[in-house]
Amino acid sequence: MDAIYLGLFGVVIGVVLWWWNEYWYVLPLKFKCLKSSTKLPPGHMGLPFIGEMISFLWYFKIVRRPDDFINAKQCKYGDGGGMFRTHLFGEPSIIVYTPAVNKFVLFSDTNFKQEWPTVELMGVTSMVAVHGKAHTRVRNFVTNAINRPDALSRIAALVQPHIVTALRSWDDMGKIKAKVETQKMSFESIAKLFLGKEPGDFLNSLDKLYQGVLPGVRAYPINVPGFAYHHALRCRRKLEKIFYMELDKRKSKNENMVETIDLMDGLMQIEDDEGDKLSDKEVVDNIVSLVLGGYISTSLVSMWAIYLLAKHPNVLEKLREENMALTKGSPEDYITSKDVSNLKYTNKVVEEVIRMANVAAFFFRKAVNDVDYKGYRIPKGWKVILFIRYLHTNPDNFKDPMYFDPNRWDVPAKPGTYQVFGAGQRLCPGNMLARIHLALLLHHLSIGYKWELMNPNADIMYLSHPTPIDGVEVKFSKL
Ligand code: HEM
Repeated sequence: MDAIYLGLFGVVIGVVLWWWNEYWYVLPLKFKCLKSSTKLPPGHMGLPFIGEMISFLWYFKIVRRPDDFINAKQCKYGDGGGMFRTHLFGEPSIIVYTPAVNKFVLFSDTNFKQEWPTVELMGVTSMVAVHGKAHTRVRNFVTNAINRPDALSRIAALVQPHIVTALRSWDDMGKIKAKVETQKMSFESIAKLFLGKEPGDFLNSLDKLYQGVLPGVRAYPINVPGFAYHHALRCRRKLEKIFYMELDKRKSKNENMVETIDLMDGLMQIEDDEGDKLSDKEVVDNIVSLVLGGYISTSLVSMWAIYLLAKHPNVLEKLREENMALTKGSPEDYITSKDVSNLKYTNKVVEEVIRMANVAAFFFRKAVNDVDYKGYRIPKGWKVILFIRYLHTNPDNFKDPMYFDPNRWDVPAKPGTYQVFGAGQRLCPGNMLARIHLALLLHHLSIGYKWELMNPNADIMYLSHPTPIDGVEVKFSKL
């Protein structure tokens, strides 16, 4: 008898827990929506506090098919106008996953604000965290500093020595973990471009601290010892200290400086319409987040290039052919940004690697108003999760999407289906830098080296970023 009561009690508790979030979040909004004859997107709000995190982690971490998180919802609820309601990362949320809804959200700045769950880590006054004029001022500067043709030619000249030296050292090692080595190489390139620093003790200590910050970026923001976010914040504070010291050093040196030397100097010099410069905090917040955003994404696409080319020797052969035709003497000779723009096949490989790498699986906005879209309501205050990786892995958008095929770029992607760098006012300002860095790496790799995956069937993990589980171990040698 006791067992029956216990069972019944368990069922009741289960039902209450299952519906709790629906009543808590959805019921009040249903009445509001009735007045405007809209409805919430289909979906389920999951369990109290954790929402649908278990299901999310199931698809990302356990079965390792992240896109099935969306496919499963589609099977259950239909297409939902390209949206589902859910509760993830501690908040009621709307997931959007089609080009049309993505575009609607990304180009409607008055209704949706950029939101980073771990904003303290990125820096509360950094470009990613601020809005309006403060955002435009820094963004315009950074975009000009790294995307204009003259900037790209400077970037090509500055990063190639680091790429060439890295490849030589990989050959000396014979066996490398591409994830680790591409991170080192990209960090040195970005540090040179943004901070004017060469490899050495200073960079090693910065790198160590950035390695501590990284796991916190996509972690739950729980600032309690033992949690990734807490450790990341501590590392970030140490980074800030180092950058404040660097700032003071530059201030005393650069009093009469007129010429911009690197990105940090540039940030120290930019002025708004009233002639006001960025505060020290703004300079430090921005440089910390720019280095972080710049080197992690660049290194991940470099790692994926090594992995994908090893798996597709036919592509590597064509790449090699095109790049060999460009070399004038030694494979270590530097090329220019103009040379890169003439490497047609290489640029298609770049795009295809970046599409398949899906470095940013999703990013966030917050609805600042109640917003209606095609009869569905996105409620004010809810998080919007733009699930962009689904655009790139959806066969409606890319034929045979999981196949690595640079030739698909013979024709441009259908509008709105390729958003690896986001879109609208927050379009990634580093997109051209990331592309040229990858093209230069492909050039020197393909003409000078050969490599082979040691674990070609290694599983892929998807959190915090997509990575083969062995970190892409390869045997590496000169051609
Ligand atoms: C393949 C490499 C890269 C990928 C896939 C990538 C992806 C993205 C995406 C999707 C966004 C938009 C986020 C949003 O709308 O919320 C973004 C923004 C941003 N990215 Fe990148 N990124 C890459 C390289 C870089 C590099 C090299 C830098 C260094 C400058 C950089 C710095 C930034 C910054 C500062 C933002 C925020 C822009 C703003 O808020 O206005 N990224 N990136």
